[in-house]
Amino acid sequence: MKILIVGTGYVGLVTAVGLAELGHEVVAIDVDQSKINKLKKGILPFYEPDLKKIVLKNIRKKQLFFNNSLKNNLKNCQCIFICVGTPPKRDGAADLKDVRRVAYELGENMKEYKIIVNKSTVPVGTGQLIKKIVKKNYSGDFAVISCPEFLREGRAVWDFFHPDRIIIGGEDDKAIATIINLFKKIKTKKIKTTLETAELVKYASNAFLTTKISFINEIANLCEKVGADVEEVAFSMGLDKRIGPSFLKAGIGYGGSCFPKDVRALKQLAGGHGYKFRLLKSVIEVNRHQRRVIIKKIKEIFPKIKNKKVAILGLAFKDNTDDIRESAAIEIIKILKSQGAKISVYDPQAMANAKKILNSKINYCLNPYEACRAAQLLIIATEWPQFKNLNWQRIKRLMKNDIILDGKNLLDKGKMLKMRFRYIGVGR
Ligand code: UGA
Repeated sequence: MKILIVGTGYVGLVTAVGLAELGHEVVAIDVDQSKINKLKKGILPFYEPDLKKIVLKNIRKKQLFFNNSLKNNLKNCQCIFICVGTPPKRDGAADLKDVRRVAYELGENMKEYKIIVNKSTVPVGTGQLIKKIVKKNYSGDFAVISCPEFLREGRAVWDFFHPDRIIIGGEDDKAIATIINLFKKIKTKKIKTTLETAELVKYASNAFLTTKISFINEIANLCEKVGADVEEVAFSMGLDKRIGPSFLKAGIGYGGSCFPKDVRALKQLAGGHGYKFRLLKSVIEVNRHQRRVIIKKIKEIFPKIKNKKVAILGLAFKDNTDDIRESAAIEIIKILKSQGAKISVYDPQAMANAKKILNSKINYCLNPYEACRAAQLLIIATEWPQFKNLNWQRIKRLMKNDIILDGKNLLDKGKMLKMRFRYIGVGR
């Protein structure tokens, strides 16, 4: 099938190349011409493991094309995937201006039946809104489907081909059957439902995962008070199949371009319908508090941080990505910097992005060892797995004080204590 993907961000690009890999002919468009020019050469706008390889492969096989015109590519495509951003507005609600613009442009240019699939994370009711906007300029038959995306940054390619479920919401049975068929090579449960239900599944899933994280962070804070270890509590809780082991990792709170935005958007959505979502208010508050917990710990070690040399390993909001949006690491650096600390940082992928938003008086290091040289405190701020296997003896020799603040509970506490580091985790 010929497919048009509108938007080449994380969701758009992964969906485009994933569908191309499944054998469909895909044109991905974006309003950013320089991005399109680079994509044509296989230069990606962000780091994502394995993505570049399959983008290049599908460009070569002529399964994947990049362009900047919706109008010129619409005619040949039966199916259009909307994958544009829905950033938060000042009040937390999702900004639908790009979704509206695409719907309008589709209406202006449609001449025959098309299936419009929305993959952007949107409030309930957006599918109906898309229909209404298209109808302003097009009176023919068409279908709108909601097919939310559940991929994780850093594991997006794997997630595309191995989803736990594919949700297909809509009112047109023929269109739903076409979309199910589009994904037929992916063996997973395909759930047929309404537009509204599909739209809510996405927000509800992200909000539930953040609830798990904030819950375990509260347990971690309690562990510190009662002398328990949150890692062991989480492990034993996770053995209960009703709870499950994932998203029970305590630390400095969730970040990224999705969780913080989507929880706030769901809270706003509920409020807009006259329902006060009390739980989400707490989830957000706990996450904010968790960042302050780490600052409090730093203050306990050094009541005056001015001129203290602090090494920070990790800048990305999580491992395997160069994304620093809503990253706890960046927030901590800004606070420490404002209080006069001397900061050295290292991240395997996110240094270039961090340089764009942090001031220049930060020492950007070529490797973790350089960052730790003469440091009086080391903070682990991102769960990059390679940090576990650093030469910790070497780091001990390089540091001035051997204090580690492990904001992600990444390191083996026993091993660190044995090496005579002063190790402080979260809830351990
Ligand atoms: C998240 C969801 O996991 C995806 O299913 C969803 O598609 C995506 O948002 C989206 O809406 O687009 P992502 O933001 O890429 O994916 O990253 P996650 O792996 O979910 O991690 C989010 C944050 O939570 C990170 O800061 C991570 O460090 C933190 N986290 C995660 C914890 O603190 N503890 C955990 O146990 C798990």
